[in-house]
Amino acid sequence: MSLSDFALPPSPPASAPSLCVTDKTAEPRRLRRLHMITWGCQMNVYDSGRMADVLAPLGYGPAESPADADMVILNTCHIRERATDKVFSELGRLRVIKEARAAEGKETILAVAGCVAQAEGAYITERAPFVDIVLGPQTYHRLPEMVARAHRAAGPVIETDFPVEQKFDFLPEAAAAEERAVTAFLTVQEGCDKFCSFCVVPYTRGAEASRPAASVIAEARRLVARGAREITLLGQNVNAYHGEGPDGRDWSLARLVRSLAEIDGLLRIRYMTSHPRDMDEALIAAHAEVPALMPFLHLPVQSGSDRVLAAMNRRHTADEYRRLIDRLRTARPDMALSSDFIVGHPGETEADFEATMQLIRDVGFAQAYSFKYSPRPGTPASGAPGAVPEAEKDRRLAALQALIRQQQDDFNARCVGLEFDVLITGPGRHPGQIGGRSPYLQAVHMDGPQALTGQVIPVKIQGLSSNSLSASLIINPFAQERASA
Ligand code: SAH
Ligand code: SF4
Ligand code: F3S
Repeated sequence: MSLSDFALPPSPPASAPSLCVTDKTAEPRRLRRLHMITWGCQMNVYDSGRMADVLAPLGYGPAESPADADMVILNTCHIRERATDKVFSELGRLRVIKEARAAEGKETILAVAGCVAQAEGAYITERAPFVDIVLGPQTYHRLPEMVARAHRAAGPVIETDFPVEQKFDFLPEAAAAEERAVTAFLTVQEGCDKFCSFCVVPYTRGAEASRPAASVIAEARRLVARGAREITLLGQNVNAYHGEGPDGRDWSLARLVRSLAEIDGLLRIRYMTSHPRDMDEALIAAHAEVPALMPFLHLPVQSGSDRVLAAMNRRHTADEYRRLIDRLRTARPDMALSSDFIVGHPGETEADFEATMQLIRDVGFAQAYSFKYSPRPGTPASGAPGAVPEAEKDRRLAALQALIRQQQDDFNARCVGLEFDVLITGPGRHPGQIGGRSPYLQAVHMDGPQALTGQVIPVKIQGLSSNSLSASLIINPFAQERASA
């Protein structure tokens, strides 16, 4: 799976900070290069950035390609089938590069991180002995020590425990001179206790844990100081957030969002991924009352059949989901929705699939991600009776995706002629153009000056192009410049 499976917005690059940090000790430390390969969800993107932060004080700056890198980290995802095969095939490619560098007398540390590392552990170095470090998502803060051990080359370093300490207490602040990213991710919660029948995440990311609110707020302030105007709060179950507040009480996500909305310069807040069961009244009310909270929600439902939802251990019904959407739309009438669907879960009949199609018709999504069920080792659904034949899964997936595509096209077409606030994120497609994001995470392009980057600007949507909207500025900034000249 690639990041584009969750093809949300142009995300801030998962690369290392742009400044190479030099050692302040008497003996100047050699600058080293780090190349990061990131697969999976937005949390992996965030994690890659934090691993780069941890390594910056050791002198690691970004490398364009593995061939230029003294260290390569492959940050992996385990969510669907062939995840492990894909890792070994990429490692085969990296081995060739490592050997070519070794022939030139250059050392390359090769690390496998992320959810496949957590799931497979020592098996990775058994099958690929040229790998130096295998580290799970909860041990990134120990990376400098692992690198030191890898240099001593006593054998592979494997760290896949779920340590008692929280890594967030040990991760450094993001490197100061990082490029100005208008949009940023911020992990507030990690892990999952829900154990959906099909899912590996509770095993790879561990138990649900929330960061203290003060630590989240401090990180948000730093991101804003570096130019972030939109922050997406991340968590495998982000709306189950219950971090300790500065008042000593547990804060909900709604409380956290209200507090973040007070940060000067933070114009937009999003959060993902949510579980329908954790969507409480306070969070729905925040959608009505906090203007910075964007009216676009990714709320996976997986299936529209109560039978399949029960088999999936989702612990809500299709009608409960429909009612939840009604409440959200009552609170925020312009709310648009996105979701995840799985077709072909063991036991899913044609009637169950039709119930999913009906739920999609009833709710109306602005976009959605959909997947064929893929059995994951160690999960309850793998090996469960009632496996759906592959060809049938293909057929259902194609039908579901056609319906979603239709709804997405309709949603985009309805936007034409409307006025939106767009966050300008940088250059547009063509020279002289700027690009940005609508409240609904659509890419928007228009003519305009780069100086508007980082501002939220009212625009009129003029048309549709492939996967983006074209627009015009409502206030002509060129005219303003002339008037003030
Ligand atoms: N925490 C999120 C989901 C993380 S995984 C949530 O609770 O919704 C992202 C998506 O991958 C899931 O929503 C699901 O649709 C899909 N997925 C997870 N495991 C899968 C599997 N075994 N087969 C197919 N799709 C799967
Ligand atoms: Fe996986 Fe379910 Fe947890 Fe989401 S809620 S991460 S789908 S187990
Ligand atoms: Fe993949 Fe792990 Fe994210 S399995 S989806 S990288 S939590």
